[in-house]
Amino acid sequence: MSVGEAVIQINDLRHTYLKGTPLQVEALKGVTMEVRRGESLGIIGRAGSGKSTTVQHFNGLIRPRQPGKVVVFGQDMSDPTFNVRQIRLKVGLVFQYPEAQLFERLVGDDVAFGPFKMGLALPEVKERVRWAMDMVGLPFEKFADRFTFSLSGGEARKAAIAGVLALRPEVLVLDESTSGVDPRGRKDLLADIRRFHDQEGLTIVFISSNMEDLASLVDRVYVLEDGRTVLEGSTAEVFAQTERLHAAGLGTPQITQVMHLLRQRGLAVDDRIVDVAKAEEEIWKTLSS
Ligand SMILES: Nc1ncnc2c1ncn2[C@@H]1O[C@H](COP(=O)(O)OP(=O)(O)OP(=O)(O)O)[C@@H](O)[C@H]1O
Ligand SMILES: [Mg+2]
Repeated sequence: MSVGEAVIQINDLRHTYLKGTPLQVEALKGVTMEVRRGESLGIIGRAGSGKSTTVQHFNGLIRPRQPGKVVVFGQDMSDPTFNVRQIRLKVGLVFQYPEAQLFERLVGDDVAFGPFKMGLALPEVKERVRWAMDMVGLPFEKFADRFTFSLSGGEARKAAIAGVLALRPEVLVLDESTSGVDPRGRKDLLADIRRFHDQEGLTIVFISSNMEDLASLVDRVYVLEDGRTVLEGSTAEVFAQTERLHAAGLGTPQITQVMHLLRQRGLAVDDRIVDVAKAEEEIWKTLSS
């Protein structure tokens, strides 16, 4: 699936929480980014750098009120007369604490909630629920009739992702939503999302403080620092900027660090490598040449 035109464009966005009160926080001070159709995009930045605030503009959870522009699927989001319902179906957002997103008693009902609200016929709803639950690794037979409150943290996260996937969005935004899942489950989930992206062209926006996870999923990265976009590039390009990332309080995937150190010690390996399999190949190639 090739990458297409920009479906979300944000230009010099600013956002202040609790404006005009003593508690006001200038969360965004100039964020510029675009999300292109069919791409897998990552956003990184320290705690409080504005990642969640930025992506909440993608589906109208926060509407731009200050200067700065947000255009989503051609729609200017600052237009107060515009109803965001349509955009919410196109841009699915899974929150940082997806448990807060589950509100039905039974898991199956929870995943079905969105498709029901869309007015789909029952067989279609059922099919979507089954598909979305299988997709995230919560088999329908086993989990549909479970109480949502009885799910583990990781399962609750998966259920929340299923609820959003069931809307069949064009853009899926995952805001740290895989962090509570155990490593094996996370790896499976990331592989599923990646496969879904590759096969069906789902556009992905992934926020994670786990650089390994991020590198395994995304092709392009934006770095936020103190409410501003400070760096953008392919995953390899961004992770090659070790010093710049350190200045922003961030690290690089461990395998990239290993490659960097090997290179400093004189082994002529490419240190712009972000995944283990490629690193192994590169080291082997260099040693046997
Ligand atoms: N609802 C809110 N009310 C007031 N301030 C807020 C609110 N939400 C976020 N903030 C503040 O805005 C700034 C940016 O927060 P945001 O949640 O966007 O950062 P983040 O990059 O997602 O951080 P994290 O990695 O911790 O999730 C922070 O200073 C935060 O305290
Ligand atoms: Mg956040």
